[in-house]
Order: sequence, then C-alpha cells, then structure tokens
Amino acid sequence: MMASITSELLFFLPFILLALLTFYTTTVAKCHGAHRWRPTKKKRPNLPPGAPGWPLVGETFGYLRPHPATSVGRFMEQHVARYGKIYRSSLFGERTVVSADAGLNRYILQNEGRLFECSYPRSIGGILGKWSMLVLVGDAHREMRAISLNFLSSVRLRAVLLPEVERHTLLVLRSWPPADGAFSAQHEAKKFTFNLMAKNIMSMDPGEEETERLRLEYITFMKGVVSAPLNFPGTAYWKALKSRASILGVIERKMEDRLEKMSKENSSVEEDDLLGWALKQSNLSKEQILDLLLSLLFAGHETSSMALALAIFFLEGCPKAVQELREEHLEIARRQRLRGASKLSWEDYKEMVFTQCVINETLRLGNVVRFLHRKVIRDVHYNGYDIPRGWKILPVLAAVHLDSSLYEDPNQFNPWRWKVSGSAGVLLQSNAPSSFMPYGGGPRLCAGSELAKLEMAIFLHHLVLNFRWELAEPDRAFVYPFVDFPKGLPIRVQRIAGEHSVLTESTAT
Ligand code: HEM
Repeated sequence: MMASITSELLFFLPFILLALLTFYTTTVAKCHGAHRWRPTKKKRPNLPPGAPGWPLVGETFGYLRPHPATSVGRFMEQHVARYGKIYRSSLFGERTVVSADAGLNRYILQNEGRLFECSYPRSIGGILGKWSMLVLVGDAHREMRAISLNFLSSVRLRAVLLPEVERHTLLVLRSWPPADGAFSAQHEAKKFTFNLMAKNIMSMDPGEEETERLRLEYITFMKGVVSAPLNFPGTAYWKALKSRASILGVIERKMEDRLEKMSKENSSVEEDDLLGWALKQSNLSKEQILDLLLSLLFAGHETSSMALALAIFFLEGCPKAVQELREEHLEIARRQRLRGASKLSWEDYKEMVFTQCVINETLRLGNVVRFLHRKVIRDVHYNGYDIPRGWKILPVLAAVHLDSSLYEDPNQFNPWRWKVSGSAGVLLQSNAPSSFMPYGGGPRLCAGSELAKLEMAIFLHHLVLNFRWELAEPDRAFVYPFVDFPKGLPIRVQRIAGEHSVLTESTAT
C-alpha cells in the first residue's frame, strides 16, 4: 500500500513541482519583491548581465561542475567572457550576483553588516549549529569572534601555540615510514591539524582512544557539511547529523568533567584551553559553548590541513622551490644549534621568509576557500550596476587569485612572485596586493589566519629538513568541488639522514 502511494507520488511529482512553480511565479513572487523586475514608472534596475538558467536549480550544476582546482573552470571562464567579472545567475535556489571582481569582493567584505551579510546555506547551520560563527551575524557574531580571537591571540600564538605546533608536527613526522611504502599526505595533514586543535580546544591528547574516536567521527561529519541537505536515513547529511550528536556528546562530557574539576576547591590543575576559557571568562550558555568548540574544531582543522596537503602537492612539482626552502631552513637549524636550542623560537619563525612566499602561493593557486556566501541587505549600486536587496552575492576569491590581469601566469606555482626587493623582501599579508584574500576580509576575516601560517611554516621546516617526497600517483590532481585529493594524495618519502634530523625522541618533546 505504502509502496503504491509512493510510486504514485513519484509519478505526479514533476506535475506538482510545475504547478507550484507556476503558482509561485504568478502569485507569490508578486508579493515578494518580484515587482522589481516589471517595468514600472520607476527606473528599471540596471542588473548585472546574466541568465537565470533552469527553473528551480538555475545554473547551480554548471557552477559546481568539477574542474581542476588550479583553474576557475569552464563555467566561470565562459560567464566572465560573456558577461564580465560581475554577472547575475540563479544558484542554490536563489537569485544571485557572482563576483569575480577584486574591487567588488573587497567592497562586499568591508561592508559586512551594513550592505551585505554572511549567509551560508541552511544545511551548514543544521550541522555546525545555530551558534556557529559561520551562521551568526551582528552582536552574537561579535561576541563569539572576540572569544576566538582571544584564544588565537598573538601572545598565545608565541607562548603556547608555537611549541604545540612543533610538538604535533614531530609526532606526525616521526610516525612516517622510513622508506618506500606509500601513504596519504592529506590524511597525515588532517591528523596533525585535528590533534593540534583537539588539544588546544579541549586538552584531548593525540593517540588516546577518545581522541581517535572523535577524529573518525569527524570524517563522517565533514562529508555531511559539503553534501546536499537531504535528511533521510543513509544520506551523507543524515549520517553527519548523527555524527554531530556523537561529537557534541564527547564535548559535553568534557565540559561536565571540567565543571566538576573547577567546582572542587584547590583545583589548581586548570587546563589552558578554549573550553576552560569559555567556561570561566564568558557568559555563554552550554549550547553556545558546544557549537563554538565544534565549529572552531571544524574551521581550524579542515582548511589548514588542506592548505598543507596542497603545499606538499605543489612543492613536489617544483624542485627549485624545495631547494630554496631547504636552504632557508638549514640556515635556521644551524643558528638554532649554535644557540644550543632544541626548539624553534618565534625569532626562528620570523626568519622563514621564503616559506611565507610558498604559503602565499599555495593559498593563491590552491584556493582552499573558493568563494563566500553573502546576502545583500540594502539595495546597492556598484560600478553602474544595481544589486537588489534580498539577492545572494558570492565573492569568488579563486576567480581573482587566478585572474591573469592581476597575476602573471596565474596557473603556475611560482612562490618567487611574492618576493620583492626592499627591506622585508617578501609580500606578507600586510603588504600583499589587496586582491589577495585567501582568508576573506573585513569584520569576518579568518580568526585563525596567523595560526594557519604558523602550522604550515613549522610543518614545512621539519618536512624539508628530514624528508624528500614524491607523489605515488603523479597524475592525480585535486579537483574542485571535491573536498579532498583523490585517494588523499598518496606520497612516498625518503628520510634525509643528517645533523639536522630532529625525528629522534630525545629532542622532540
Ligand atoms: C589555510 C587555512 C585557512 C584558510 C584558507 C581560512 C579561510 C577562512 C575564510 C576565507 C574565512 C572567512 C569566511 C567568511 O567570511 O564567510 C574564515 C573564517 C574563519 N576561520 Fe579560517 N581559514 C584557515 C584556517 C583557520 C584556522 C587554523 C582557524 C582556527 C583555529 C580558523 C578559524 C576561523 C574562524 C573562527 C572563522 C570565522 C571568523 C568570523 O566569522 O569572524 N581558520 N577562514
């Protein structure tokens, strides 16, 4: 009986959708600002050029069509060629302006809260939680952001996070097989960034059963973040919601343990982690703290591990850059030895000048975050175009980073493009061209950008000093919109024996 009702429903589904669409376009749309499109006595808005595509889905499938991640893809190329760098479309079920224009992207991010507002698909809120920073706007966002910035402050970066980053780097590198066997570089990068975040957010130690369980749960969770939000048994989204519940269960237990510890008198053993800080210093509710920890674990783990995997991938194809990188790090290791130090200092980190060029270039070419989701909250007039309130607007960071009018040979990995003659010798975030926005910008600029750079630099330091590596499957390039390298970027490594090797237990911790 149920089966027959279902098949009847399926048969009639297209007709029902068509009827709903007709009803929407003839009736509902009129009440929801569609009058903007009808010629009235008022001047017609001069919308950016473009096409709406198919009913309901618009041009979403074309926009998300897989393409090598170091290119903008056919859809973007064709649209920019036909309409220019600012065009209109219909994406993710909404009328949308797409911006491949550096100036407009900056304008959007700098006018957050005034003209534009962060607006991620509802599925993201379902998974990361309604208190996640990606979802919050206004004062609630500012409060959460302040807590995250405090956790990632430059004082903590120097005193706590630098030694932690080095310790976690060495833990991962020491576990690599000395020769031959291939393993996934991306998997290792994820292990590194996850363990680092789990330790600093909730004092969870790497290798412990609970940490490992959480890490595996996180993999399922991540697949759901980027999947279609179809919530019925078996789908990636459904599994991710279940994972969210288990992850929150672990965080909640940690929180209860901590509260119990804190309530005991003489509790001098208080971990210096985000959980402790949020419990002691903020007025956040339990639900808010849970979402904050979960989303920081997400924001701080996926992006920087992807960036690291991309650096390993690009460097493998550019031996000259590996050579220059190795020379820079050999010099730092030599000076460190002369000082009799066994750990990297902040001054050592500041000497990693070419390394910063490699990091910039990896982010420019690899585009870990390709575009951002925003909504127009006031009618905007930009460069002769009217962009109406209520529309979505997507600043596509990747399209700017791969724009040949801004970057010479944009599809080539060329870290030297970031070197400049002059005192600093290198274009850092502060003096890089304003078109370079791998961490977004304005009031929502990535809260963890300095930590991400530190993680990559320290990891690369020990990587180039201790290993040579090659891709085990060289023809497998990273394809957007898949979030991972195919097969997780298998590599083969060879240890470099020598006085700089710090992979022995005695010097590492
Ligand atoms: C290479 C690595 C990274 C890249 C490319 C990156 C990129 C970004 C971008 C583009 C945004 C802006 C999103 C938007 O405006 O909608 C963002 C926000 C954010 N990122 Fe990162 N990120 C990285 C690493 C990290 C790390 C390591 C952490 C934390 C430990 C972190 C924490 C955050 C947080 C909390 C936000 C939200 C900021 C806010 O809404 O105020 N990120 N990131």
